[in-house]
Amino acid sequence: MQNTMDAIRADVAELFRQDFSGHDMAHTERVAAQAVRIARGEGADERIVTLAALLHDADDRKLSPSTHAGKDNARRILAHRGVSAEDTERIVRIIGQISFSDGLIPDTLEGRVVQDADRVDAIGAIGIARTFAYGGSHHRPIYDPDDPPCTGMTRAEYAARQSTSINHFYEKLLLLKDALHTGTARDIAKKRHAFMEDFLRQFFDEWDGRA
Ligand code: NI
Repeated sequence: MQNTMDAIRADVAELFRQDFSGHDMAHTERVAAQAVRIARGEGADERIVTLAALLHDADDRKLSPSTHAGKDNARRILAHRGVSAEDTERIVRIIGQISFSDGLIPDTLEGRVVQDADRVDAIGAIGIARTFAYGGSHHRPIYDPDDPPCTGMTRAEYAARQSTSINHFYEKLLLLKDALHTGTARDIAKKRHAFMEDFLRQFFDEWDGRA
C-alpha cells in the first residue's frame, strides 16, 4: 500500500512536470500532508483522503480542461496502480466536490477533510507567498488604495474580478477560517489566520509611513 501511494505520488509529479509545465507539486504534497493530519484528528479514511489529496489538481479546470469533467488523469493513474473501482469512484467524487470556485460542500467526511486541507494551504505564511506569486504572474498590483475590496460577490463576479493581491485577503483568504468543516482544520487555521492579520497590519503601517 505504501508502494502504491509512492507510485501514485510519482505519477502526479510526472504529470505536473510534463503536461502542466511545472504546476506546483509542492502544493499537492502540502495538501496531502495536512489532509493526513486532519484525517487522523477526525477519524476519516486516511488512504482515501491521501489519494484524493494527491490527485486533487490532476484534472484542474484551467490546467487540463479536456480531462476536467471526466477526471481522466486521476482515473488513469488509479487504474494503472490497481486501485479498485469502488475506491476510484469515492476518490473521483471527492475531487469533483472540493474546488473553491464551485462552492460545494462535500457530502463525505473524507471530502470535507481534503477540502479543508486545500483551504488551509491557502492561508498563513504559505498563503501570503502564494497570493503574491499568483498576483505577480497575472500582472496584478500588490495594492491600490483606490480599489477597495468587494465582499459578498457571487461566484461569477468573484471569478471575473481582476483584483489586487491585498484585496484577495479580504475577498477570500480571511474568510476561509469560517468556511472550514472540521475542528482539526479550524485549530490549524487559527495561527495561520492570526499571522495574516499581523502581516496586513504591518503592511498598512509601512504603506502609510507609520512603521
Ligand atoms: Ni489545491
